[in-house]
Amino acid sequence: MHNPQLTKDGKLKHLLTTEGLPRAILNQILDTAESFVGVAEREVKKVPLLRGKTVCNIFFENSTRTRTTFEIAAKRLSADVITLNVGTSSQSKGETILDTVDNLTAMHADMFVVRHAESGAAHFIAQHVAPHIHVINAGDGRHAHPTQGLLDVFTIRRYKPEMHNLRVALVGDVLHSRVARSEIHALTTLGIPEVRVIAPKTLLPQHVEKLGVQVYHDMNEGLKDVDVIMMLRLQNERMNGALLPSAQEYFKCYGLTQEKLALAKPDAIVMHPGPMNRGVEIDSAVADGKQSVILPQVTYGIAVRMAVMSILAGNSE
Ligand code: CP
Repeated sequence: MHNPQLTKDGKLKHLLTTEGLPRAILNQILDTAESFVGVAEREVKKVPLLRGKTVCNIFFENSTRTRTTFEIAAKRLSADVITLNVGTSSQSKGETILDTVDNLTAMHADMFVVRHAESGAAHFIAQHVAPHIHVINAGDGRHAHPTQGLLDVFTIRRYKPEMHNLRVALVGDVLHSRVARSEIHALTTLGIPEVRVIAPKTLLPQHVEKLGVQVYHDMNEGLKDVDVIMMLRLQNERMNGALLPSAQEYFKCYGLTQEKLALAKPDAIVMHPGPMNRGVEIDSAVADGKQSVILPQVTYGIAVRMAVMSILAGNSE
């Protein structure tokens, strides 16, 4: 079956999900991002790859990291960047998503970066836009957040280059997490030998093991000898009903403390996609500790988003 995010000759046309993306394209993005890391260290932090192109950020859902790093990335590529504040746009007067997209297309947009609370929103827009336009999913419901998954893998690769040898644990609300899905697809496609999920049964999707992960319900067992710990945010806004006894009880069982971190390998890295709930998912001593790479994840997000946008622009019809 044809992958809607690829051209007929197998190049990246849109980035909607890491699911089904060939390993060669994942590596192309990671390798290209490597070449952009140094741009941030230059006096003039710009390259001309998207000069004359217009990137439109449309965020129907709140964001700190993704929206700003996409904007910085597009500017570093010399694009013209529009960030539509949906709260003050004509969406509030009843305009449909596709009408908003059509109007921005009439202003000669070349690329849309879309975040939406509904799963499938970015696919829907990608099916609608003209052939020369690219769509990047910046997070849709609980479905996918491909650039977050990719920047997490990029961060892992930077700190743990021996990727063929790693044990990675994702901890917490896998059920509602688009980040977890995007990461699991990327990590398994890249051949990471052991990907674990650690969570209570109520926060795991049914048949999660079919994604190629090992399932643990106990942190003491699941964290043993891992190289990478990826903590996940409790997605309270996507929970229907009480899936947890209390935040305190959750922290006791699944919060990452120094004591639990000591179960992992001594040089294990600690990650979190943000926003963090300190004292619920992670103790501040760990979040701000020497094994934490949470802020480097944000920095690398710029290089990864530059890579995705430059590859898409290079594949224009
Ligand atoms: N990780 C992430 O998507 O953060 P934001 O919601 O702040 O963009």
